[in-house]
Parts: sequence; C-alpha cells; structure tokens
Amino acid sequence: MASRQRSSSSPPNCRSTSRCSSERSDDADPPATADDAPRIAEVWEAAWRDGHVGNIPDELLVHRGSASFRTRTSAMLDRTSVAEIDGLIVGFVTLTHDEVDQLMVDASARGTGVAGALLSFGARRLIESGNGHPWLAVVTGNARARHFYEREGWRDAGHLDYEAPIDGGTVTVSCRRYELIRDDITAEQHPEPPAAGTRGAG
Ligand SMILES: CC(C)(COP(=O)(O)OP(=O)(O)OC[C@H]1O[C@@H](n2cnc3c(N)ncnc32)[C@H](O)[C@@H]1OP(=O)(O)O)[C@@H](O)C(=O)NCCC(=O)NCCS
Repeated sequence: MASRQRSSSSPPNCRSTSRCSSERSDDADPPATADDAPRIAEVWEAAWRDGHVGNIPDELLVHRGSASFRTRTSAMLDRTSVAEIDGLIVGFVTLTHDEVDQLMVDASARGTGVAGALLSFGARRLIESGNGHPWLAVVTGNARARHFYEREGWRDAGHLDYEAPIDGGTVTVSCRRYELIRDDITAEQHPEPPAAGTRGAG
C-alpha cells in the first residue's frame, strides 16, 4: 500500500478513509479520519458543480449548498477512498453496495490519471467484495464523465431516472446507467497512473 505522502514527481497516491492505491486492495487500510471530511466536501462541491450545473433540474441546485456536501460527506467517510498529491486530497471515490456512488476529481488533477486510478480501485474493491457487476449512474448531459467511463471500459446500459435525495424527498435526475464490461481489473491491467501533471490539467 502506498504511503500517504508523495512527492509531485511520483504517481498519484490513492488512500482510503479506507486508502486506495493501484495495488490490490487486500492490504490493510489505515483507519478513517474525520480530518479528511472538510477537504472531501470541498472537492465534492466544486467537482459536482462542474459536472452537473446545467445538466440537472434547477430544483436540485437549491438543495446542494455547501452545508449539504459537508453533511453527506460525514455520512459516507467509511465508504470513501481518496487520492492525494503532496498530501492534499485531489479526488475521491465512494462505494455503496455494488455501485460506484461518487467519483469526483478536483479540476487541478483532471487529465492526470487520478480519476482512472480511483475508478479502477473502486471497481476492484466491489468485485473483490463479491459485487461482480459494478454499476454507476452518470447524469445524461455530463459528456466528459461519460466519455471517461467509456474509455475506462464501462458501457452505457440505458436510461435511468435517478432519485437524488434531498431533505424530505427526492428530485428525479435524468441519468445513464453504466456497467463495467470487464471484471478482470487488476493492478497489472491498470498500472500506476502517470506522474501528476504529465498530461496537464483536463
Ligand atoms: C469525471 C471525472 C472524474 C473524469 O476525470 P478526468 O481526470 O477529468 O478524466 P480524463 O481527463 O482522464 O478523461 C476525460 C476524457 O473526456 C474527454 N473530454 C473532455 N471534455 C469532454 C467533453 N466536453 N465531452 C466529451 N469528452 C470530453 C477528454 O478528452 C478525455 O478523453 P480522452 O482521454 O479520450 O482524450 C472528472 O472530470 C470530474 O471529477 N468531473 C466533475 C465531477 C463529475 O462529473 N464526476 C462524475 C460524476 S458521475
């Protein structure tokens, strides 16, 4: 398992609250820490806006203020793995049952391989824990994310009305269901991503 600290010339290091790496995930994970929550919430809010504003009903935006990201982050820490560069969290993946529930990468780390490392880590975790058919929901208009998932070996399995939770109910969001079409993700197949910054920010 890669250590938490890394230099800017080494590959992105994933760790989880649970920690993640491109290595197999049967290594012992360091314990979760609530200290990560503020930065996770910050990355989540900014990345969520990048991928969703303009692609979701305005009604949902009203319910997605900063406080909502902080509250929901605290509730998912034990299912969340993060990637960090120079000790700073730059992305995270959250798993729920057989679903890649959240995948968010800070704008500064897009196009660097961090997202691919997080996604393959998450998929491998799901498979290794007996969920042989990982899936995820992506907002229909989120073209960058959809292209990314398809490049990473996921397939569009059709329309999905996703019920996004809000206080006292849900808001229906038009999404696509994506499924992993290969179940043989290993460290060999998805090696350490390139050094941060070698492809520039996406
Ligand atoms: C989705 C996300 C995790 C992907 O990580 P990333 O580091 O940006 O991904 P990459 O740069 O490796 O790949 C993006 C691909 O989309 C392409 N792309 C960029 N903008 C695009 C657009 N508007 N339409 C279609 N494709 C686009 C890139 O060229 C690249 O493809 P390529 O490698 O074939 O050239 C990241 O962009 C992100 O966090 N976005 C905001 C939050 C979000 O949408 N999360 C997903 C929720 S389901």
